[in-house]
Amino acid sequence: MDKIKSIAVTGKGGTGKTVVSTLLIRLLSKRFPGRVLAIDADSAMSLCYTTGLPVVKTVSQLRSELLGIQQARNELNNGPTKDLMRGILAHGDGFDMLTMGRPEEPGCFCACNELLRYGIDTLAEDYDFVIVDGEAGPEQLNRRVMKSVDCLLVMADMSARSLQTAKGIIDVANAGENSISVGMSGLVLNRVRADIPKEDLLKKTGLEVFGELPEDPEVNKFDREDRSLFDLPMDSACPQAVEKIVKKLIPEY
Ligand SMILES: Nc1ncnc2c1ncn2[C@@H]1O[C@H](COP(=O)(O)OP(=O)(O)OP(=O)(O)O)[C@@H](O)[C@H]1O
Ligand SMILES: [Mg+2]
Repeated sequence: MDKIKSIAVTGKGGTGKTVVSTLLIRLLSKRFPGRVLAIDADSAMSLCYTTGLPVVKTVSQLRSELLGIQQARNELNNGPTKDLMRGILAHGDGFDMLTMGRPEEPGCFCACNELLRYGIDTLAEDYDFVIVDGEAGPEQLNRRVMKSVDCLLVMADMSARSLQTAKGIIDVANAGENSISVGMSGLVLNRVRADIPKEDLLKKTGLEVFGELPEDPEVNKFDREDRSLFDLPMDSACPQAVEKIVKKLIPEY
């Protein structure tokens, strides 16, 4: 298996993308401090709450500023876009975070977006791991974020619908139909229950499973109390399950 640097988490709405992304960021930044770039690619912007790290400025805000100012646009064209990206990073304990913010209005800003994406790609060179918390749905292999990801984790709860969505996403990724290239992809099952057999459902998809998470009352509790998942006890079920996935995907962990 090739070395995995970038991991994007995707899947149907509400299946646990942000929970898994946050725990990946937490585990990797603890083990490899300063080497982790987190990217919140969901316009709903949840990572700031689950990591407890406030947003400095979003890529969307940066884009709006640049679009309004001809001189800034020239600078973006001529100067180091990576420095602009560095300027809007939030710095957390062992990781940095880039927040995409709102998607662009349709159609008009392609050149600017292309440069911003180039900026993200070059920024990523400074890190050993890049974790992307994606938006829901198959189209969102995030054209606006990166050109390629090494590993796509597709979340599914044990509903047939979420598995169909997951299969759709992985099929699109494998067919290379997106403007982003994907190294490997597989499922992460969430809210797995011992009393509901999953084998039949899974057999239908024929997809590889990278890991599974049980329902975790601690996660529910932290959610209700609006607390960062960085403070979740490490011995609770979800951190343990995500650590298993990390060990599987990243041998040097
Ligand atoms: N294994 C779990 N145990 C308990 N609660 C969970 C678990 N997984 C997710 N949740 C809760 O379910 C909700 C949805 O999870 P999360 O926000 O991670 O999903 P998402 O896929 O990122 O959603 P969205 O599509 O809105 O971005 C959250 O309230 C989260 O705390
Ligand atoms: Mg989310």
